[in-house]
Amino acid sequence: MSDATNSEPGFPPRTAWDALAEHRTRVDRALVSRDPAAIKQLYIDLGDLLSEAVGADIEQVPVLSLPETAPVVGGLLQDVEGLVLDAGCGEGAVAMAVAARHPELHVEGVEVAAANVEIARKLNRFPNVAFREGLAEEVHQLFGSGTFDLAYSFAVLEHVRDVEATIRSITTALRPGGRFCFVVPMHEFRVTGPLPEYTPIHGYADHCRVFSERELYARFGREKDFRLVKIPGRWKPGEFPDTVEPIEFGSFFVGYTRP
Ligand SMILES: C[S@@+](CC[C@H](N)C(=O)[O-])C[C@H]1O[C@@H](n2cnc3c(N)ncnc32)[C@H](O)[C@@H]1O
Repeated sequence: MSDATNSEPGFPPRTAWDALAEHRTRVDRALVSRDPAAIKQLYIDLGDLLSEAVGADIEQVPVLSLPETAPVVGGLLQDVEGLVLDAGCGEGAVAMAVAARHPELHVEGVEVAAANVEIARKLNRFPNVAFREGLAEEVHQLFGSGTFDLAYSFAVLEHVRDVEATIRSITTALRPGGRFCFVVPMHEFRVTGPLPEYTPIHGYADHCRVFSERELYARFGREKDFRLVKIPGRWKPGEFPDTVEPIEFGSFFVGYTRP
């Protein structure tokens, strides 16, 4: 059970789950502050909180991705062995969580932003994960064809210049029979009144495109072992103007196998 005093300044969290609870409290505060530096700092601080809580006992580190996606990630990894690609790994939280939970795997994280690669390397304590600067569109050149047993790309395809080129590169880097999984936002809204001047607080403004269920089925539905899962997200009042209502809010998870 978590102790209420764990969240108080000056009291280090006792377990990794307490650390995550503390992190979520800070996330809520940082989102309200709308300060991009504070939001970025959250993930650096999360590494410290976890380190304080678990020390060298990395088995205790929980999956660090969003609570909604963690069970999906765990499930998809159950039968996987070998080399894993994280295309667009950001600050490396998911890659590190995978590496911590699966010492038998080796994870390669590729990320376009040099600053994120630097943060990931600073946070990393696991020998079976590596981070490098690069484009998701060029992973087949970085690693060669048929290299990976599993490739995933979470919250990245909505940012890239060319989705088809990115998918082509990632699937080329997969071995035949390897699985590719991606997560993209599931954002469908209804506008109920005039929209005020509004600055998104969370980076939604840098999405280059939206994905719909119909389009995802049309593009990927015939792929081998295709799977689409809708993962509901948490609608936080105040995150969008009051005149925006969610129809569907969360993420699409898509997975299929390279023939
Ligand atoms: C929303 S973050 C998601 C990070 C991470 N996948 C996660 O789930 O925590 C999107 C990341 O994709 C990276 N990115 C965007 N376009 C990319 C590209 N073409 N190649 C590699 N990384 C890219 C961004 O720099 C950013 O770190």
